[in-house]
Amino acid sequence: MKQRILSGIQPSGQLHLGNYFGMMSRMIRYQEENDLFCFIVNYHALTTVQERDRLRRNTIEAACDFLALGLDPSRATFWVQGDVPQVTELTWILSNVTSLGLLERATSYKDKIAKGITPNVGLFSYPILMAADILCFGAHRVPVGKDQKQHLEITRDIALRFNHIFGDTLVVPEPDIDQQTQLVPGIDGQKMSKSYHNTIPIFIDDKELKKRVFSIVTDSTPIEEPKDKNTPLFHIYSLFLTDTERQELARRFDTPGLRYGDVKKELYERIRAFITPYREKREEYLRHEDDVRDILAEGARKAREVAQQYLDRVRTVTGLNY
Ligand code: ADP
Ligand code: TRP
Repeated sequence: MKQRILSGIQPSGQLHLGNYFGMMSRMIRYQEENDLFCFIVNYHALTTVQERDRLRRNTIEAACDFLALGLDPSRATFWVQGDVPQVTELTWILSNVTSLGLLERATSYKDKIAKGITPNVGLFSYPILMAADILCFGAHRVPVGKDQKQHLEITRDIALRFNHIFGDTLVVPEPDIDQQTQLVPGIDGQKMSKSYHNTIPIFIDDKELKKRVFSIVTDSTPIEEPKDKNTPLFHIYSLFLTDTERQELARRFDTPGLRYGDVKKELYERIRAFITPYREKREEYLRHEDDVRDILAEGARKAREVAQQYLDRVRTVTGLNY
């Protein structure tokens, strides 16, 4: 039997290289040999994006990004989370087997509070909705970046607790985190994230791309000294290189004489060459938004069928079906 692989992405801003390498490109690769479930998590984005036009725009653009980059709706099930309300019902059910302490320990929640966000209940119970996203489809494997590791652990805890109380019902999923791409740094050296204003978006124009690449922080090591490889510039550039090319870049960093400006120029060209073929496809999808909505509607129809089956099992074992 094919493995069911599932993951989601928030439409909370422009998708960036961290999203691409941490999750999107791996999902696109997995669609070849697996039963792939991929969705845009607009219920989750509502915890922080509370402007109608922005949420709508981000949702459709995230869908166009994914499709342009190669997600194939004839192989994968691709939909928008809010079109499958079964997940919200499962969220309520799961919230009754989730301890407060488990949520209070969530670092993503604590980080957002530390950044000055006034928390709403949605933000606090975010991990239960994410657990429902995964458990409502019986996913075996969930490709994510490192920042989502704890959320996956919470999902596993909730599934095990549910199974302990009501009998073996839910599939306990495994996280799928890739060593090399699990934490792509932003241009300031922190984790690249839509909420930190430090991203290199996948789809931006050349001028803005150049500006972002040239803003990647570097240190003040003199030209005649070797350079530190544990830096955002080396790390981001490495994402685009083969093993041999990466070794060559490492050698150049170790050798006196390297100028950061030269490396940035090369990196800019590299990213541009990489993204150019996808830009035209994205424009094409954006010109035909209604076709994209049809694709998502068909995906949602398939997703609802699967979700309803899992939800029925849950309703039966809990006694909600009477
Ligand atoms: P963001 O933090 O930019 O809002 P999301 O929370 O929507 O991104 O993340 C979508 C997916 O991309 C998740 O699987 C997440 O782990 C992954 N991801 C996000 N940022 C990075 C990063 N800097 N490096 C690797 N993976 C990332
Ligand atoms: N919380 C995830 C993030 O911010 C997005 C997400 C929601 C998700 N539901 C999911 C990821 C289910 C994987 C599986 O990146």
